Amino acid sequence: MYMRIFRFDELDSTNTYAKRNCSLLTDRTVICARRQTAGRGRLNRTWLSQEGGLYFSVVLKPQKTDFLANLTQLMALSACKSIQSLGVPAHLKWPNDVLINDKKLCGILSEAVTVQNTFQALVLGVGVNVRQKDLSCAGQPAVSLAEMGANTEEEIILRQILDCFFASYEEVLLNGFSVIRTDYLKVFPYIGKEVEIRHGINPARGTVQTISPNGELVLQTATGQAIISIGDMCL
Ligand code: BTN
Repeated sequence: MYMRIFRFDELDSTNTYAKRNCSLLTDRTVICARRQTAGRGRLNRTWLSQEGGLYFSVVLKPQKTDFLANLTQLMALSACKSIQSLGVPAHLKWPNDVLINDKKLCGILSEAVTVQNTFQALVLGVGVNVRQKDLSCAGQPAVSLAEMGANTEEEIILRQILDCFFASYEEVLLNGFSVIRTDYLKVFPYIGKEVEIRHGINPARGTVQTISPNGELVLQTATGQAIISIGDMCL
């Protein structure tokens, strides 16, 4: 199972800390902070990180690196299932956002650490809105578990997410997305919906057909089928 959890009252960012100290941290170390002064989101966004939210990063140093993107999807699924177990009707937005009514509840920032092009570690950073009452400054529509009437604390949800993640970690590491595809599809309500995938300057538009056995988004576009492995999915 997971090994150690280092706790801080305040960090710039748990991901930044984990990357900075990567060589000193062993496989499966968890860095957790009560607040972050420079929380980071995907695509260079900031992540509002006041007290009341859950902010942690897991440092992974696997031998096999074929399925790193799928580990991020496993983390998103683990967060989604843990949140659902509190009675909150969360779902996943590909590739790894957890939403309720199109408002963000949890996001994941996955970063690889390399030295001279050699993989050293994967840092999986997770932010969950738990007890915050005012997320109007989040920069995007956001909601907390407390606002959804779920009475929980950061520590409880942290344990649930880690338990769920490490229960399938080895299997996904060895076999990839197919291990979690059925569960992922159960909490992914976008099949048949029209979406836009933003990445670079040319967005792709189409109808979501499925998630492939590798975890990619399969779209039916005006010009045929597109298999998308990176981007931001927007309705
Ligand atoms: C997203 O844009 O959806 C990803 C947000 C990830 C936020 C978490 S909070 C813990 C970790 N440390 C960071 O600076 N970011 C991630």
